[in-house]
Amino acid sequence: MPHQISKAIVPAAGLGTRLLPATKSQPKEMLPVGRKPVVQYVIEELQASGLNQILIITGRRKRAIEDHFDPDPVLISALEQAGNEALLSELSYIQRNSRFFYTRQSSPKGLGHAVALGADFVDSEDCVVALGDSLIAGEEPAAALRAMMKAHRDLKAAAIVAVEQVPPDDVHRYGIASIQGAEPPPGEPVAMTDIVEKPQRDIAPSTLAVAARYVFSPAIFEALSRTPPDHRGEVQLTNAIKLLIQMGQPVYAWLLRPEQRRYDVGNFESYFRTFIDFVLADERYGYLARQYIKAKAYEL
Ligand code: G1P
Repeated sequence: MPHQISKAIVPAAGLGTRLLPATKSQPKEMLPVGRKPVVQYVIEELQASGLNQILIITGRRKRAIEDHFDPDPVLISALEQAGNEALLSELSYIQRNSRFFYTRQSSPKGLGHAVALGADFVDSEDCVVALGDSLIAGEEPAAALRAMMKAHRDLKAAAIVAVEQVPPDDVHRYGIASIQGAEPPPGEPVAMTDIVEKPQRDIAPSTLAVAARYVFSPAIFEALSRTPPDHRGEVQLTNAIKLLIQMGQPVYAWLLRPEQRRYDVGNFESYFRTFIDFVLADERYGYLARQYIKAKAYEL
């Protein structure tokens, strides 16, 4: 039986400056998207993928993330005494069989630097990296990651990186991958030939943007240790992946299926889009939200 991946790193140390003042004293990963904070969706996706050791890379003003995944006996016994089963079940996400670990990135040295802080935790095993401010929508949000982990094992890959098509005007916001061949089929690994972080539109090699989910072999940590900081003093995860490709390691892109759309809360525009789409899809409140928006549309 091949070894199953059990460890995930969730970088959540970004300053969230594009979301001020909402993020002045709370992490952007704790902003609500419908009924849950962003990071809870990410953790539930990891748990549903069978990952039960989760390292969250936090930073200053990020303590609320730890509190969110920490059982609160006072709250639980108050709800038990009140016989409030419905609310108790809302807290069941804390009890799922996973262990949480935390470490801090104390200065903004980039996503690659944040992931590298997980090297000792991962300890020469394969691992998943899931960005704490990005969600995967759909009926089964963990399906993509599960399939990526299986492909990673079957191919003995160094890295499998989720990607999605973005409009040409948006390529400067993402890591952009080059692949073998033209349009890749969704839900399958395709060899990646190059990758570049946030290129200008006119030099972008494609419109395939890195979509916040990665499966890595331990080779990524060696690549990260050999990746110099960029002009802003940040170590880019993208540049470490580029180094893996240059070292001749097997690196693959994985195009998400259309129903596995990626959302993020990196700025207000994307946050509002995320919030609205998730509320509209909410099984309890979606109907009311759709009615309200339909009524409102007449006024616009
Ligand atoms: C990070 C990565 C980028 C990736 C993006 C996905 O950028 O550096 O390669 O495409 O996440 O959300 P950030 O959004 O942190 O600037």
